[in-house]
Amino acid sequence: MNTDKWELEALLRWYKVLGVDVLFAPIPDNLKSATSSSNNANIGNTVSISTTKTVTPIEISDMDGFTVLCNEINKIDCPLKRTARNTVIYDGDIKAKVMLIGEAPGYDEDVQGKPFVGKSGILLNKMLASINLKREDIFIANTVFWRPPGNRTPSQDEISLCLPFVKRLIKLVAPKVIMLLGSVATHAILETMQPISKLRGRETEFMGIKTIPTYHPAYLLRNPSQKKSAYNDLLLLERVLSGNY
Ligand code: URA
Repeated sequence: MNTDKWELEALLRWYKVLGVDVLFAPIPDNLKSATSSSNNANIGNTVSISTTKTVTPIEISDMDGFTVLCNEINKIDCPLKRTARNTVIYDGDIKAKVMLIGEAPGYDEDVQGKPFVGKSGILLNKMLASINLKREDIFIANTVFWRPPGNRTPSQDEISLCLPFVKRLIKLVAPKVIMLLGSVATHAILETMQPISKLRGRETEFMGIKTIPTYHPAYLLRNPSQKKSAYNDLLLLERVLSGNY
């Protein structure tokens, strides 16, 4: 690859790390005329450095943004990494309209390196199917990226280390609706300690995105009588998604 191109790509990736999504490059008048003209008569002429107000957005591809972010997540100095087999970042469609955020990987997720692939995941897939959503249609992540030993609840320090990166995942996916699964995700994202039983089923906002807390599938497996409430929350998700809310 040509060195200039390589350097430019490296610079764009670095801007992306800093949170810059789009660069606006003013095009000098003389350059515009040079590029729009089919002959190269301007090349070699003395050029003035005057600029115009015209701006051209240079898009950095979404996948580049994910690759950079995933590399950074892999480098987080989190104590959970010492006991985990895998870093579990996300599954699904990076352009999904629905983003789900769970608590932390469990045993199966740790082994497979994917969120919600164990018993909770099987129930979650059925919950999604009840409103005609397929697993591949959504983006799914967790509040922390590594399995806490013995499946304990992640500590506040572990959550605080991962949260800025979860927010960057949200920014990259830019979903229409976020659904928070369980109290750990809900408390971390919404910065509240109110019980999930009070927060669930109500639409709120996070980073300007409609957000609905609901019960965690693992809780529903232990408390099947609450599945009706969770179904109502899914119907709310469906309405918000279709704009009928
Ligand atoms: N529970 C979670 O919160 N996340 C997973 O990925 C699996 C189980």
